[in-house]
Amino acid sequence: LPPKTTLSIPKGGPRPFLKWVGGKRQLLPRLLEQFEAAGKVSRYHEPFVGGGALFFELVRREWINPAEAILSDANPNLIDTYRGVRNDVDEVIDILKRYKQSHDEGHYYQVRAEEPRKLTEKAARIIYLNKTCYNGLYRENQQGKFNSPFGRYDNPTICDEVNLRAVAKALKKATLHCRPFQEIVNEAKKGDFVYFDPPYHPLSNTANFTAYERNGFGTAAQEELAKVFRKLAKRRVKTVLSNSWSNDTRTWYQEFGPMEVRANRAVNSRPDRRGKVSELLVSSF
Ligand SMILES: C[S@@+](CC[C@H](N)C(=O)[O-])C[C@H]1O[C@@H](n2cnc3c(N)ncnc32)[C@H](O)[C@@H]1O
Repeated sequence: LPPKTTLSIPKGGPRPFLKWVGGKRQLLPRLLEQFEAAGKVSRYHEPFVGGGALFFELVRREWINPAEAILSDANPNLIDTYRGVRNDVDEVIDILKRYKQSHDEGHYYQVRAEEPRKLTEKAARIIYLNKTCYNGLYRENQQGKFNSPFGRYDNPTICDEVNLRAVAKALKKATLHCRPFQEIVNEAKKGDFVYFDPPYHPLSNTANFTAYERNGFGTAAQEELAKVFRKLAKRRVKTVLSNSWSNDTRTWYQEFGPMEVRANRAVNSRPDRRGKVSELLVSSF
C-alpha cells in the first residue's frame, strides 16, 4: 500500500473555520507524517485545540473518526464557539447571513461591544469578528475581551455555509472540553494519540518572553507540560508536540530526539519578522 500521505485527499470535508494564533497550516505535512508513523491509534486527543488545523485535516482525510476525538482548550470563548456551531449550525448560519448584509465599520464595532449569552449568538459573533477584524486573528486582552480593530477587506467571507455544516457534522460526534491541558493525564490511555500544540515558548531576552512569564504560558507551564509528555510517553500513549526551536525546548525534550523543522512565519504584524523560522517537533515513539 502507498503511504497514506501520498493518497489523494477528498475535496469536501471540514476545514478550520477560525483563524487562530499558531494555526498549523505550515507544519501540517510533518504532523501528518507523524500521525502515519504512529500506526493504528485508538482515540485522538488535542488538549490545545485552537483552530484545530490537524484535527480537521485528519477528519477530512477520514484518517480518524470524530467520535474517537477528544478536543479541549483553556479558552472558554473558543470552546463556546465550537459548541454553538455543533448545537445549531442553522442558527449560526442565519445570524452570519444577517451580519453579512449589515457589514460595515459601525456594525463591526456594534457586534464587538455585545456580550451574548446564547451559544449560537456567541459563536456567530466570534466567527464574524474573526473574519472581519484587522489581521484576521482572534486575540483577547487580559480581561478576555476581543479588542482588535476593524479590518478593511473588500469582500470578507463572513459565512462559509458549506464548511460550517461540515464542521458541525464533525463536532457532533467529537467530545469537547474547556479545561487546562494537565487533565489529559486522567484521560489518555495506551494506544491513544495526543497532539500538543501549546503557546510557543518565546526565545529568551525578548519582550514576548517577559510577557509570557507574567501572564501567558510561562516557563513553569512549559516545564509542567514536558513532565506530562514524559508521563504519557511512559504509558505508551503516542504523543507528538510542536513548539519553538530554542535552547530551553531542546533541553526539555532532549531524551526524545527533538527535530528541527523550518516553517514560514506568515502572521506577524512586522514585515521584517516574517520569513523562515525553525520550530521543534518531537514524538514519543
Ligand atoms: C498555539 S495555539 C493552538 C493552535 C492550533 N493547533 C491551531 O491549529 O489553530 C495554543 C492554544 O492553547 C490554549 N491554551 C493556553 N493555555 C492553555 C492551558 N493552560 N491549557 C489548555 N490550553 C491552553 C490557547 O487558548 C490556544 O488556543
